[in-house]
Amino acid sequence: MISVNEPLLGHRELEYVTDCVRTGWISSGGRYIEEFEEKWAKYCGRRYGITVSNGTVALQVAVASLGLNPGDEVLMPTFTIISCPIAVTYNGGKPVLVDSDPQTWCMDVTQIEKKITPRTRAIMPVHIYGHPVDMDPILALARKHNLAVVEDAAEAHGARYLSGRDTAAPDWRTCGSFGDLSCFSFYANKLITTGEGGMVLTDNAALADKARSLRNLCFQPQRRFYHQELGFNFRLTNLQAALGVAQLERMDEIIERKRWMGKEYCQRLQGIHGLQLPIEEPWARSVYWMYGVVLSEETGMDAVRFAVKLKERRIETRPFFLGMHQQPVFHEQGLFANEHYPVAERIARQGLYLPSGLSLTEEQLSQVCDAVCAVLK
Ligand SMILES: Cc1ncc(COP(=O)(O)O)c(C=O)c1O
Repeated sequence: MISVNEPLLGHRELEYVTDCVRTGWISSGGRYIEEFEEKWAKYCGRRYGITVSNGTVALQVAVASLGLNPGDEVLMPTFTIISCPIAVTYNGGKPVLVDSDPQTWCMDVTQIEKKITPRTRAIMPVHIYGHPVDMDPILALARKHNLAVVEDAAEAHGARYLSGRDTAAPDWRTCGSFGDLSCFSFYANKLITTGEGGMVLTDNAALADKARSLRNLCFQPQRRFYHQELGFNFRLTNLQAALGVAQLERMDEIIERKRWMGKEYCQRLQGIHGLQLPIEEPWARSVYWMYGVVLSEETGMDAVRFAVKLKERRIETRPFFLGMHQQPVFHEQGLFANEHYPVAERIARQGLYLPSGLSLTEEQLSQVCDAVCAVLK
């Protein structure tokens, strides 16, 4: 079976983790935590990094740092992981959904403004499968309506976006550099991994202090066991951060490998009737976190059936997200009951992603492409 994803771990990872074991720094203190926070923040062009135990709680801490009032609204794509809306509902807010762009599968930025109400506090753009969201219109709306931006860059480590493309001084910026708070996941299938892990980035010293405090039970620096606020234990361990530091050292190699994979798939699969491939907008440098494809309905096949056919040929796949408006758990809470988002619904039904791991060889990639061609013939 060609697996959908496998991490790439090497000697350096082993060396740094061994160093933690040897020195006894295995909990949330230790030099790798600070080093990972500093280096990742710098890589993304930010001032502060706050490590947390996974990407889901990174979003939770980021939203908690904004201090929502009950019923405050946060705009986000429906086509995303459940971590996004629960970060809002756990903080007493209300997620408000937006459909997807049919080409990039990210939030359709032309549909955001009509959803803004006097209760809107923030926008949560999500870079889907490694392709950046069109950030400039989102930042302009945030400025116009005085909204915060919580950027979810969990799937887009090192992806870049051409900011200010209509101006005299366009600028390529790294995903994760846009939000008032930006969030990452370092789960094992991400471009760089700490096993489980996450980080919140910001340039705002007050938000950084708040996020750091929330992560660590709101212990007070002067009087440790005296609490003025309720926090969480969302700390990352030094062991995990050691993995992250080692992984970050090969970021360029990882991105090169992912971009090779993305381009190679595109070249080999182009022209197959009924198969929509990921695009790369001229203002984007995708990192092809996962190589997604969408079948047209004309093929008479949906993604479930396509996955079964590929599995028969020993190719593992994963289905696309199912929109948040289609989740029974939210209907029970009185959310999104009669809402419809046609693009998100279609790509959820017709989309899946192919093996996209860093260990995927050229030969395996050829086998995947041959299997896709054979199934769709
Ligand atoms: C867009 C997005 N946000 C958040 C997360 C949550 O990250 P984690 O799995 O580390 O909790 C993921 C996980 O894959 C994700 O894809």
